[in-house]
Amino acid sequence: MRILVADKLASFVPGRLQDLGARLDVDPKLEGETLGAAMRELDPEVLIVRSTKVTAQHVESGKSLSLIIRAGAGVNTIDMSAASARGVYVANCPGKNAAAVAELTIGHLINLDRRIADNVASLRAHRWDKKTLGEARGLRGRTLAVLGVGAIAREVIVRAQALGMRVVGWSRRLTEAQAEELGIVRATTPEAAVTNADAVSVHLALTPETDKRIGASVFAAMKPGAYFVNTSRGEVVDQDALLAACSSRGIRAGLDVFAKEPSAGQAPFEEPIADHPNVYGTCHVGASTDEAEEAVGEEVVRIVGAYQRAEPIPNC
Ligand code: MLT
Repeated sequence: MRILVADKLASFVPGRLQDLGARLDVDPKLEGETLGAAMRELDPEVLIVRSTKVTAQHVESGKSLSLIIRAGAGVNTIDMSAASARGVYVANCPGKNAAAVAELTIGHLINLDRRIADNVASLRAHRWDKKTLGEARGLRGRTLAVLGVGAIAREVIVRAQALGMRVVGWSRRLTEAQAEELGIVRATTPEAAVTNADAVSVHLALTPETDKRIGASVFAAMKPGAYFVNTSRGEVVDQDALLAACSSRGIRAGLDVFAKEPSAGQAPFEEPIADHPNVYGTCHVGASTDEAEEAVGEEVVRIVGAYQRAEPIPNC
């Protein structure tokens, strides 16, 4: 079994894959044309990627390709139709980095309220702006709306509840019974969920239905000055509508994801929204903790093992 790993994974992963008897090629710099060339030359049976995008051409180039593993939750970086047309399995690692993404979500929320990034910038400029940068609302007793109630949102919910927040949730599949079990109030639309919320956090997978789903109608329904956090996918938010809401309604946003993200290390990053003074950006690092990368790495090894033994492939 020849495996190509085209991203940096937890350090134990290559050794564990070799222990399975795999012939391994690892090159975290591969992407675009170089990944295409590697697919042709190395002709792997299994391709493992994290952030690297896998296009129809890549799928076509790998004549022996049988399985693509996304070392993360979302599969929007992989051309699923091309894989399915060629009978290539695609497996992901859902839930394995959920705690890490939830931790960053809460970090953004606290930053929006306590202006930590502004404080740091102010002190680095040798100022002491306590009067303005000391103004915060506090999170205890406030309401958080979560849009999407999957594995990551559930981790966010328990953390928000631990902070003393009340949570309202919306997802297409959320039932009353599930909402009750989670200790949250169920809303029937994103607009209804955000209406009385002090903060909103987005946890939607990117699909044709969710593309730009969080747009002008949601921002118009939010309280002026409310906090908005997105650690899911940039494309699920209409960035122009968010930018307008930041300017006209004082929405303050913490964003880990953007509609256009360069590959790691590839400059420039050019999203006008990140320049808005109400917007605090991070570079899609939600899943980038040792804990999450180790859990994802274990799942990758488990998937390859199952594939090799011709067992049902997990998360396919
Ligand atoms: C995910 O889909 O789980 C994350 O976007 C993974 C990542 O940042 O690599």
